[in-house]
Amino acid sequence: MRKREIIAVGGGKGGVGKSLLSVNLAVALSQLGKSVVVLDGDLGSANCHTLLGITRIEKSIEEYLKEECSLADVVIATRFSNLHLICGASNKVDSYLERPNAGERFLRDVVALDHDYIVLDLGAGMSDVTLDLYNLSHTKIIAVTPEFTSLQNAYGFVKSAFFRSLSQHESLNDYLPKMSDPVVFRKIMLELAPHLAARKDYEAALRDQKFKIAGNMISAKTEVAIITKIRAIVKEFLDIDSTEFGIFMTSHDVQSSINKLTPFVELFPQDGNSKELKRIARTIDGQAVDVIERRWWKFWQTAKKT
Ligand SMILES: Nc1ncnc2c1ncn2[C@@H]1O[C@H](COP(=O)(O)OP(=O)(O)O)[C@@H](O)[C@H]1O
Ligand SMILES: [Mg+2]
Repeated sequence: MRKREIIAVGGGKGGVGKSLLSVNLAVALSQLGKSVVVLDGDLGSANCHTLLGITRIEKSIEEYLKEECSLADVVIATRFSNLHLICGASNKVDSYLERPNAGERFLRDVVALDHDYIVLDLGAGMSDVTLDLYNLSHTKIIAVTPEFTSLQNAYGFVKSAFFRSLSQHESLNDYLPKMSDPVVFRKIMLELAPHLAARKDYEAALRDQKFKIAGNMISAKTEVAIITKIRAIVKEFLDIDSTEFGIFMTSHDVQSSINKLTPFVELFPQDGNSKELKRIARTIDGQAVDVIERRWWKFWQTAKKT
């Protein structure tokens, strides 16, 4: 029996490390002996295949979106045992997703993929299908860098995903226009209190939005504060809870692994970022308790004080 856990890596902004984290997390999970598939959700400028050392795309999500075959038909093997890939499209394919029922078909087929872990690299932007993939995921990861614009986009992404999820509940339709204003957002619960169905839907949607935050391209202790900051902002304005996923340093090893077309967890297993991802993979897979390595824990504690 497959676990079929869907893990999404999003964040709205391009260039923050979503693809790198997705691919390397997937490799780390596959190294634990689990069947994993990465779905390159960047519909237009796919690059997960390159990060996995595949230089020529033989089949991709494009054929599936054109309705020429099933989603399982475009799953390809990689040189890593247990690790599979659905290559993203290198052409613009948005129009295929605008066809009637195309979005539903896609979401249904993603959920039905028969692997222990389905890792979704969500790509940049906030299209409906991107938000829906994020919303249906069991584990929601938001990648951020210490840049202010990354924080802005991450907040926008989390907010849009939440609103998209709320808009799918008929019981909440009357409240949605008011909710778009963060200031009145918190008062909504009071208004909803007497309306049992609406309140239950709202609370369930809120619980579902809990996410994990990955701080990437950290190069100074003080920059770790970005994680605390975004968690506080999202909690204050949207009431959504979050936890830390991990901290990933700016690393020359990461950059050189890209040009060597090899995931860094394989090429530099002793690098801090590799160790962090391997620890996380073991935790996700229930093979370790979520104890941050002492080295990182010390780093984290000093960073929080500064
Ligand atoms: N931890 C890191 N250390 C050094 N460079 C990084 C790191 N993470 C990301 N990068 C750089 O950022 C670029 C974009 O990463 P990528 O995963 O493609 O972002 P996204 O998928 O969010 O657009 C990489 O090509 C690499 O140059
Ligand atoms: Mg990417």
